[in-house]
Amino acid sequence: MYYPDELIEDIRSRNDIVDVIGSYVNLKHKGNSYTACCPFHHEKTPSFHVSRERQMYHCFGCGVGGNVYTFLMEHENLTFPEAVETLAERAGVALPEQSMSKEERRRADERTRLKEMNKAAAGYFHYLLKTDHGSNALEYLKKRGLSDDTITKFGLGYSDKYRDDLYKYLKSKGYKDNELKDSGLAMFNEKEGPSDRFWNRVMFPIIDPNNKVIGFGGRVMGDAKPKYINSQDTIVFDKSRNLYGLNLAKKSKRRGIIFCEGYMDVISMHQAGFDNAVASLGTALTVGQVNLIKRYTDRVFLAYDSDEAGTKATLRALEIMREFELPARVISLKPYKDPDELISTEGTEAFEKRIEEAKSGVMFEIGILEHNYNQDDPQERTEFQKEIAKCLSKINDPLERNNYIESVAKLYNIEKEPLKEAVTVFGVSGKSNVDMSAFADRTRRGSPEQEKKKESLKTERILITWLVNDNSLIQPVSEYLTPEDFVEDLYRDVVRMIYDSFDSTGKIEPAAIMDRYYSKEEHEELSSIMQQDFGVEISNEEKSGEITNLVKRIKEKSIKYRMDNSIDLNERSKLIEEKKAVGKIHINLN
Ligand code: CTP
Ligand code: MN
Repeated sequence: MYYPDELIEDIRSRNDIVDVIGSYVNLKHKGNSYTACCPFHHEKTPSFHVSRERQMYHCFGCGVGGNVYTFLMEHENLTFPEAVETLAERAGVALPEQSMSKEERRRADERTRLKEMNKAAAGYFHYLLKTDHGSNALEYLKKRGLSDDTITKFGLGYSDKYRDDLYKYLKSKGYKDNELKDSGLAMFNEKEGPSDRFWNRVMFPIIDPNNKVIGFGGRVMGDAKPKYINSQDTIVFDKSRNLYGLNLAKKSKRRGIIFCEGYMDVISMHQAGFDNAVASLGTALTVGQVNLIKRYTDRVFLAYDSDEAGTKATLRALEIMREFELPARVISLKPYKDPDELISTEGTEAFEKRIEEAKSGVMFEIGILEHNYNQDDPQERTEFQKEIAKCLSKINDPLERNNYIESVAKLYNIEKEPLKEAVTVFGVSGKSNVDMSAFADRTRRGSPEQEKKKESLKTERILITWLVNDNSLIQPVSEYLTPEDFVEDLYRDVVRMIYDSFDSTGKIEPAAIMDRYYSKEEHEELSSIMQQDFGVEISNEEKSGEITNLVKRIKEKSIKYRMDNSIDLNERSKLIEEKKAVGKIHINLN
């Protein structure tokens, strides 16, 4: 990076993490760490831990973590150089003035240039839409009921059939290959050379609240798969913190913000006058998006698809909105699939009526429950009523809760008093049901393949945690395992740093290791490994057995991996020898 590593490390070591975080968050001393309710997600029981010994923090609820720099970057929304500057000032360390502002400018310039490139691309796509090349695309959009005005307002466009015309266009505007690569608009293949990411699609530019083009969605004009291709995340595009249509919706005079699933839904709604509609970008609603929306509104409407997936997404969104204390209502679209379909078949007034009739989150949840129980069977009816009570117990405001009890009792023909009592009973246990840590876990979960890979990497993580927790293990483990035995790149590097640091100084500094990494994902991953404390005292004998096991498993996997990837006979016979030796591995502790 631009500041010398030693300087970054020096500044970090002069700013104790407990003092720094303690000035933003109310920390409680507990055991050998400090805890608090996490400042990065809503929670009622503290799962945010800060360790003075390791100079790191980690939240076991939502997964954030890092060192003192990461904290400032995340909590105060600073860039890395800004965090360095802040902490340098705090510790009275002088910074080399010029390199700082230069670097900052370089990064800002990079972002500005990327957004300009996106704008040029959007302009090009829009231009193509109006030429002969784009006639099919234009016809497609017209057939879907979009007016010229709407097409212009959303800057819709068309990406041509040629494999690299956008690439060539942007090159002619002076953009370099590496910039094109960073933008995600072009892909580079060694054999076939550069090509565009989007071919023969209707293009939807994604525009941020500052009116900058940050990415694109592209739809096929027929039934081919995949229906949509979206820009990957780049230095200017973070899907989880942006919403499609917010650039326009933020100016709306209508009350609240309408959340829906798709690009076309947003466009249809805006065209019909509901210009407060936004869509999350092909992902489930994220905490980042709710944080963003809270700046612009104090209430939301959910207009997700009426199918099962949409209903699930609605229930989850309601849960998040409740945690963020953002009142939410659910718009029923039935029998139509989505807002676009409803508006194009029934028109504007019908949709307006649906908004007026939107159910509060609680009533929507209860409505869903109703279908799961046979109301003629006394036992099922009791269960149904219990579920209702559970639902109502989640309403914090006592007056609001009472009003709901009243309406639900009337609507479902239930005696009011027993219902009230049941709600009170669940009020105690029900609270813990809405624990955000469970939610954070769910939204952070990746695809099944990612999950599988994660599972298989667990062994490596656990061993690293052991090494960080007990430095006396480093030497014996290093006799059997080299960094190359670790499958995951990140872990391999970390083990290398642990070995190096232990070799030269006889100790390791987790927070210094973290300084080598810049991405949020890496910081979260590392802090969770290094902050983990097993919290159990076990005998040396047990420990030796445990570590021996882990080392064996990692070695076996590493040998298998090399075996699968090697055709060299010499190497294979060496590997067979190595494999035989695995049985003899024994980590001796004394
Ligand atoms: N989506 C995506 N990739 C896909 C399918 C969907 O990113 N392969 C995202 C898009 O943002 C899309 C949204 O999920 O707008 C909703 O998907 P869907 O309901 O299938 O599409 P619609 O927006 O309704 O598109 P259309 O009306 O054109 O079918
Ligand atoms: Mn649709």
